[in-house]
Amino acid sequence: MIVSRAKVDDLDAIMSLEASGFDNAGWSRDSWAEELTSPDRQVLAYRDADDRLVAVATLHLVADFGDLLRVVVAPERRGQGIARKLLIASILMAQAHGAVRILLEVEEHNAPARAVYARLGFSPIDRRRDYYGPDLHALVMELPIESLSYSPGSPLEVAS
Ligand SMILES: CC(C)(COP(=O)(O)OP(=O)(O)OC[C@H]1O[C@@H](n2cnc3c(N)ncnc32)[C@H](O)[C@@H]1OP(=O)(O)O)[C@@H](O)C(=O)NCCC(=O)NCCS
Repeated sequence: MIVSRAKVDDLDAIMSLEASGFDNAGWSRDSWAEELTSPDRQVLAYRDADDRLVAVATLHLVADFGDLLRVVVAPERRGQGIARKLLIASILMAQAHGAVRILLEVEEHNAPARAVYARLGFSPIDRRRDYYGPDLHALVMELPIESLSYSPGSPLEVAS
């Protein structure tokens, strides 16, 4: 497993992941290009040993919080803990940049994504009706990270 910053050269692979992950709410190539070039975005890629990009996550650093904007894993590699590892790397990167909490929005019926976020310790703090379209509501979830610690092999923990 290799987690590193994604590059503009990764755009084709990212667009393939995007197409595999979202039916009708996909981001455009221009949107992803902007993610990859904006200084306040952290786009992390997870690559297999053969260098194939199999997952990507992007985070917006805003003042003292990180806004987790997207995570997508190649369909054939789901259920293997990849999103979890990539998000832990993103969260630790946000923490290193001074973030004290991570926020995100997730479509209420996206059970896999909600499971990943809940396992990482995110809790719902708000609900936005019709955020993604008619009857597509968003949950806003938060993870305080000020006192969070993690070491390889251990679960992500918030110290009490
Ligand atoms: C959501 C998504 C990123 C999860 O990636 P993943 O690599 O399969 O997730 P992980 O294997 O890291 O799973 C982490 C935890 O979530 C749970 N989880 C993941 N998918 C699940 C599912 N379909 N149902 C129930 N729980 C699930 C896992 O069981 C795991 O918990 P565990 O540690 O207790 O076993 C992936 O399904 C995906 O790319 N979906 C399409 C894009 C998307 O919806 N992105 C999120 C919104 S931007």
